[in-house]
Amino acid sequence: MRHEQLKDAPTEVLQAVGLQYLYQYMHFTTVLEQVVVLPVTSSISLNRYDVDFAAQTRAGAYKITTDEAWHAQSAYDYTEALAKRTAIAPTLVAPAFEWRLEQIFHGTEGPQTRLLRFFSAVVSETLISSLLADIPHDERILPSAREVVADHAKDEGRHDVFFRSVLDEVWPHLSPTQRQSVVSQLPRMVEAFLAPDVEAEIQSYCSLGFDIESARNIVKDSPPSTMTSSKQRPARDTITAFGRTGAFRDEKIAEKLLAEGFLDERLDKHWL
Ligand SMILES: [Fe+2]
Ligand SMILES: [Fe+2]
Repeated sequence: MRHEQLKDAPTEVLQAVGLQYLYQYMHFTTVLEQVVVLPVTSSISLNRYDVDFAAQTRAGAYKITTDEAWHAQSAYDYTEALAKRTAIAPTLVAPAFEWRLEQIFHGTEGPQTRLLRFFSAVVSETLISSLLADIPHDERILPSAREVVADHAKDEGRHDVFFRSVLDEVWPHLSPTQRQSVVSQLPRMVEAFLAPDVEAEIQSYCSLGFDIESARNIVKDSPPSTMTSSKQRPARDTITAFGRTGAFRDEKIAEKLLAEGFLDERLDKHWL
């Protein structure tokens, strides 16, 4: 149902609202690849972690680096082309996951930050396939945008498999303290990528001439955007990937994650 403050808005304004969502969605992809994933896949390909990766893993990381650079570029190119075609300039803000991840890394240094950065990429890559799966079939979204996302989704199916195997390869080499620090941050990492980006949505409305108060009200009363609507399913894929490694067998950690609602006693009993 349309928000009260959008009820009388002209069609052009409503179309512009949809466009700004799309621009910001593409920007999310670009920043995710450039800031979170590419530094990690490059480092795996060059074997620059403490773990000595198998030759096959390093070769795979080169391919994924190429894929991710293309995803970032194609999302950027698509935005530029659409802005030109519609004559509506994008208003882009830094996606919320950037500052949310910085909060997770805050107070850590050196190897600990590197470890958490590595796992933030693993988390995003095990989440993203399910996150992209619905969009190509969502008829509310421009067909050209759905095509871009469908191409991306095809590659991410392979990346999911790659990162699960990287996780299996790395986990046995971590110390109990390292494992604990990663697992205890999993709920925050998942949240960093999946929680609604309220600030970006407010800025989109402001760019279309809404005052800040109206923009806040519209966003507050609206359902979460497409990018963030399927929270349960993607988190389950990440839980399964970590569960397979035995990551949740530490009793104290499991209790904490159950209490936080990240794990579900019934669904995740195999991993506990
Ligand atoms: Fe990607
Ligand atoms: Fe990927």
